[in-house]
Amino acid sequence: MHRAKTGFLNKDGIRIHPAEDFVGMRAAGHLTARCLDMIIEHVKPGVTTGELDARIQAFIEDGGATSATIGYRGYQHASCISINHVVCHGIPGDKVLKNGDILNIDVTCILDGWFGDSSRMYVAGKLARRDERLIDATHESLMLGIAAVKPGNTFGDIGAAIQRYAESHHMSVVRDFCGHGLGQVFHAAPNVLHYGRAGSGAVLEEGMFFTIEPMINLGKPSTKVLADGWTAVTKDKKNTAQFEHSIGVTDDGCEIFTLSPAGKFHPTRGA
Ligand code: MF3
Ligand code: CO
Ligand code: CO
Repeated sequence: MHRAKTGFLNKDGIRIHPAEDFVGMRAAGHLTARCLDMIIEHVKPGVTTGELDARIQAFIEDGGATSATIGYRGYQHASCISINHVVCHGIPGDKVLKNGDILNIDVTCILDGWFGDSSRMYVAGKLARRDERLIDATHESLMLGIAAVKPGNTFGDIGAAIQRYAESHHMSVVRDFCGHGLGQVFHAAPNVLHYGRAGSGAVLEEGMFFTIEPMINLGKPSTKVLADGWTAVTKDKKNTAQFEHSIGVTDDGCEIFTLSPAGKFHPTRGA
């Protein structure tokens, strides 16, 4: 169905949405978050990533939505499942989860024309102490980035907050992938960098919708894409983690569209 885009583009080419557009984003984000809650109990040693993806696809379709990733630039799955040193865009398939694996599951639903994009970390079996620190620091860096979101602040304030926290914990920020505007489209302006200088970049305005989705590495920031054209891995093969929320800027801060209704966004601490 074709529908005219609402709102207008500001001077930086970033769409400013009217208040009523929050309703659609809330519904799409909520379905995405419920999907990511649903899959928690299925993540365990012995299961394949393809089985998880099939459950995710069925959940999205049962919810009256479609997957934004199926058919996106030739991608054929309802999720990206990125294990251990896979940074993002891991392709679900025959890979079997083993004890101690950490994984990111990233889902984007389209509900009534609105996009909800979120990802979280999951653990198969027993979590190693080093990976627990990585997951905690990555989650905290996202939440600090979100805390920097309010009208008048800049996108550089978001990146700086994330980078400062990650690097103070002797971890590194991936530079090769970023967050993005979204709404009635999957990827729109601006690129939301997870590093940078406070006060730099476009100014945040009420009505902007975008994701923040930092990828934080235990080792160096460099990544490479494997021969399948999708799977991005750390060059040094050290583990990496990512959390992603879709948010909308409000008059005094932001609304997180993809909050976990079960309070299980963080795999061990909840929230
Ligand atoms: N959901 C991802 C993001 O956060 C994009 C995945 S595109 C895919 O932007 F084709 F790899 F699924
Ligand atoms: Co995204
Ligand atoms: Co995503």
